[in-house]
Amino acid sequence: MKLPHHLSIKNGHLHLNGLDCVALAQQYGTPLYVTSEDRVCEQFRSYQKALSSRYPKVRVLFAAKANGNLAVIRALADLGAGADVFSSGELHLALDAGMQPEKLLFNGSSKAPADLRLAVEKGVKVSVDSLDELYQLDAAAKAAGKTVEIAFRVNPALEVPTHPKIATGLATSKFGIPHKEIPAAYRKALSCKHIQPVGIHCHIGSQILDVEPFARAAEVMVRIAKELTEMGVRLEFIDLGGGLGIPYHHDTDPAPTPEDYAAKVIPIFKAGVEACGITPELWVEPGRSLVADSTLLLTRVNSTKEAHRRFANVDAGFNLLIRPAMYDAYHEVIVANRADASLTTEYTVTGPICETGDILAHDRKLPGLVAGDIIAVLDTGAYGFAMSSQYNSRPRCPEVLVRGDTASLMRRQETIRDITATMECPPWQR
Ligand code: LLP
Repeated sequence: MKLPHHLSIKNGHLHLNGLDCVALAQQYGTPLYVTSEDRVCEQFRSYQKALSSRYPKVRVLFAAKANGNLAVIRALADLGAGADVFSSGELHLALDAGMQPEKLLFNGSSKAPADLRLAVEKGVKVSVDSLDELYQLDAAAKAAGKTVEIAFRVNPALEVPTHPKIATGLATSKFGIPHKEIPAAYRKALSCKHIQPVGIHCHIGSQILDVEPFARAAEVMVRIAKELTEMGVRLEFIDLGGGLGIPYHHDTDPAPTPEDYAAKVIPIFKAGVEACGITPELWVEPGRSLVADSTLLLTRVNSTKEAHRRFANVDAGFNLLIRPAMYDAYHEVIVANRADASLTTEYTVTGPICETGDILAHDRKLPGLVAGDIIAVLDTGAYGFAMSSQYNSRPRCPEVLVRGDTASLMRRQETIRDITATMECPPWQR
């Protein structure tokens, strides 16, 4: 199987950054998320290079929903990244990680009054999702005696080749304002005393393996930019969102790179903004393509069973990785302690959760398994731990970050005490 270069197989064991994954599993226990910081940084640099070699004003905002670990966000902050934050929590994380407020965009289709107040207080730009929200934000800014810079989230009504649950720019989607109504929305924004429209924003969906749809989105956005510029809106940035996919099947899926993305999108973007007579910043918001392949989920085989199928029961389930159950997502798996053994036997890899759908991998050819084997689930750095839960009262597992050949805990193992810490029995039970 094709592996990214931070993963390798030596002496029969899977290695990450040259570190033996079996030894990491022994040291920290399983289940365990392990992330290569170097790989995250490498992916960020390739975006930065691909875009800035073609256009002078570029900003890469990490979609913080993909991986909410402070240490991962800090690694990106240190390289100059900004962030797309989708909640007050993500805003706090990005600021705690050292990102400057001007590098953040507060996104969200349903912001609460407290979210709007926080955005105003911290002075971050807001991607506004409705006119109702616009007026609430204007009022919040007025109350604070401030002006807020905004973009509207455009719904470009574009079909994209991805799982329907992660297509976000369809005409029927909950996100954004229909593109035809965008000029009217900016006219309203211009009349709000405490709002300054400075950008436009869209995001068409996630796990998109073809760069064509991004080109279509860029066309819609520069067309809108022209109308807005003629209307008197001074656009400082155009944000094309994230969405570039990763190859689920390493050997057969297309693997578009930031370079492919930039080569397709930037000529359209450049011609479009030149036609408007402006040079706004180009913003992108990658999540998955920055962090997904940096990370392994290491899980131990508890038992095997021959029933309707041959099952390998492991200690991580959809409590830690919900993507296969939720989006039928395919994650490659490798037996970390016998990574070069021949693949003789078909297994369905199932977790410990009390749900029929708790399956991490269906019908995979693996070496014959025994209890104690360590299975590495690949490409779990995006929407892995970030979407985990404590279902079945399972404390969440630790996360380890690796730089060079040094590993360090970036999130400790939760305990049952962490689960009960926020609970209280009512007075009549005490
Ligand atoms: N910008 C906005 C406004 C977004 O809503 C998203 C993702 C991104 C950027 C980043 O997209 P990416 O580059 O990661 O594709 N949980 C799902 C993915 C949901 C994506 C939601 N929005 C999954 O595990 O596939």
